[in-house]
Amino acid sequence: MTHEVKGVVAKSKGEPVSIETIEVPNPGPGEVLIDVKACGVCHTDLHYREGAINDEFPFLLGHEASGLVEEVGEGVDDLTPGDFVILNWRAVCGHCRSCRRGRAWNCFATHNATQKMKLEGKELSPALGIGAFAEKTLVAAGQATKVNPAAKPEVAGLIGCGVMAGLGAAMNTGQVSRGDSVAVFGCGGVGDAAIEGSRLAGAHTIIAVDIDQTKLEWAKEFGATHIIDSSKVDPVEAIREITGGNGVDIAIEAIGLPVTYEQAFYSRDLAGTVVLVGVPNPEMRIELPMIEIFGRGGTLKSSWYGDCLPSRDFPMLIDLYLQERLELDRFVSETIALDEVEEAFHKMERGEVLRSVVVL
Ligand code: APR
Ligand code: ZN
Ligand code: ZN
Repeated sequence: MTHEVKGVVAKSKGEPVSIETIEVPNPGPGEVLIDVKACGVCHTDLHYREGAINDEFPFLLGHEASGLVEEVGEGVDDLTPGDFVILNWRAVCGHCRSCRRGRAWNCFATHNATQKMKLEGKELSPALGIGAFAEKTLVAAGQATKVNPAAKPEVAGLIGCGVMAGLGAAMNTGQVSRGDSVAVFGCGGVGDAAIEGSRLAGAHTIIAVDIDQTKLEWAKEFGATHIIDSSKVDPVEAIREITGGNGVDIAIEAIGLPVTYEQAFYSRDLAGTVVLVGVPNPEMRIELPMIEIFGRGGTLKSSWYGDCLPSRDFPMLIDLYLQERLELDRFVSETIALDEVEEAFHKMERGEVLRSVVVL
């Protein structure tokens, strides 16, 4: 059986998205059909519709989602219809060379549903293998992680992408621990989540850096102990001043720009860590004196999806949220309907929101 449902589709490069009736197949072996409850609007969705990811139009957008399992395919034994799940875009395979070494968060062979969703008979490319700006979507079973259903869907969905990336950049990749000093460059949804993650992990000093005063005020609400407007002062100098002339233990870049990567690099203490979670474009270059890379010691890391392991991290983070130890409500700037995604892209471009979330 095929389900005909409404979905947000990007049909061609740069064109506004439209609501279409799409065809979603019943789950086959290893697949699950999800009744989508909420899905956040992320930069990556906009990048797809701008043709900046690839040319495989039409795209079914949306990937920061939560929902209820509606039906499970053959061989799926850890999910049952009615389970409340958060979707992820890295279903681990369990047998690639990284999984075999016990490093499943790095899985080099993640997978999605085998069957295709369609628009007028044409295969859709689901954003990040999910496609959740839709009433129903089809994913691989490993892309759905069961969490406590007491969490609000619009909040839970955010754990599936940007918020996880930021929390994980601090807690998993940066290994922030109690007493550490941290600087976070860029205070959008990802940077603010890195601030929250640092606070949760016990960081003593958390310095937020941005060029937008409103974002800096929001960053304080997430736990920044200091804020720096880098459009007015040199952030490297300001960070040294705050940290007794030393720099921070962990500097997290959550924008994806050469200039802020360099600032992060130089604002570190000796033997400190730089974490790059902002996604650069292929043209960007950085130039650093090699002696500084050697002489400062420490570690330069990238954070893929916050180096998360959904089965380990999603239920734990939702539990912390329900215990009011992790503030997630604040990330939801507004809830919107399916037909308001295009307008949400514009709000995102104007920097007015942390996250607009479609609620179904
Ligand atoms: N210096 C300091 N801050 C800057 C600069 C700069 N040169 N340029 C932009 N910013 C700030 C913006 O003011 C904004 O607050 O960076 C923040 C970026 O936030 P968003 O645009 O909301 O992006 P977000 O969703 O947080 O994602 C950040 O992480 O996962 C990646 O693809 C994602 O590359 C993106 C990054
Ligand atoms: Zn995303
Ligand atoms: Zn693997």
